[in-house]
Amino acid sequence: MQELWKVLKPGDEDWGVAESIDPARLPEHIAIIMDGNGRWARERRLPRVAGHRAGVDPVKMCAETCSNLGIKALTLYAFSVENWKRPAFEVDMLWRLLRLYLRSELDTMMRHEIQLQAVGRVDALPEAARDQLEAVIAATSRNRGMRLNLAINYGGRAEITNAVNRVIDEARLEGRLGQLRVDEAAIARNLYTAGLPDPDLLIRTSGEMRISNFLLWQIAYAELYVTNRYWPDFNRTELLRAILEYQRRDRRFGGLSAAPEPRFAEAGEELIEEIPVPVR
Ligand code: FPP
Repeated sequence: MQELWKVLKPGDEDWGVAESIDPARLPEHIAIIMDGNGRWARERRLPRVAGHRAGVDPVKMCAETCSNLGIKALTLYAFSVENWKRPAFEVDMLWRLLRLYLRSELDTMMRHEIQLQAVGRVDALPEAARDQLEAVIAATSRNRGMRLNLAINYGGRAEITNAVNRVIDEARLEGRLGQLRVDEAAIARNLYTAGLPDPDLLIRTSGEMRISNFLLWQIAYAELYVTNRYWPDFNRTELLRAILEYQRRDRRFGGLSAAPEPRFAEAGEELIEEIPVPVR
C-alpha cells in the first residue's frame, strides 16, 4: 500500500478513505463488472460509444491503484460472449478502444511490473486487436507485479465447459478415460485463472444485481459490492470505498464467524432439547 500514499494528496477525499483501509487485510484478487457506459452516454445525449471511450480512464485508474495497493490480481470484464449481439459499429469501436488502451498503457504496465493476460476466447477477435493484445501479453510476461486479466469474449459457462473438456481430453490422451472422475481441483487447474487466488471482492457498477456469466466458478465465496455509479464515473475514491466495505464484511466461507455467539458458545447437548420445534 506504500506506493498508493505516494500518489494520494492529504486532504483529498480518497486520502481519507485510504486512511481507514487496513493494509494487512486487502483482497488478493478483485474482479469488476464494468457496466453503465451506455446509460452514462445517454444521460449526456451522447452516442453509446462515447460512454465506452469515457470508460477507458477508470480502467487505467483501477490497474494503477490496485497495483499501488499491492493487490495480486485484478480481473476486468471488458467483453462478454454475448456482446457480439450489439451493433457492429459499437463492437468495432470496442476493439479500437482496446487497441488504443494497449498502445497507451504498455509503458505504465512495464513501470508497475504489471503482467497482462487475457481470459476468454481471444482467437475470435479481429486480427489487429488480437495481435496487439498478444504483443502486450508477451511484452509483460516477465513482469512480476500485479496480474491484470482482461476478460474478453469471455463467458463463465463456456470457461467451465472448456475446463471439463480439457480434463477429458487429457485423460483420453493418457488412456485413463474409463476410470476418470472429475474433481474440483481438476476443473480449477483448467480454468483461465489457474494458479491465481479466487476473487475475494466482486464489484459491479451501475446498480444491476446480476453476475452476467462472469467468473461463475471463481466467485463462489467472493464478497459482492454493487454501486449505482456508472462505470465512467467510477473513480479512485469509489474503488477504495469498495475495498473498505469489503473489510467490514464478516467472511465465513460457510463456517461460523470468528467471534463466538455469546449464549450458545458453551452449550452442550441439553440445550438441543430446549430448542422449541414448531408444530405444523
Ligand atoms: C458495459 O456497459 C460495458 C461494456 C460492454 C464494455 C466495457 C468497455 C470499456 C470499459 C471500455 C474499454 C475497455 C478496455 C479494457 C480498454 P454497457 O454498454 O452495457 O452500458 P449500459 O448497460 O448502460 O448500456
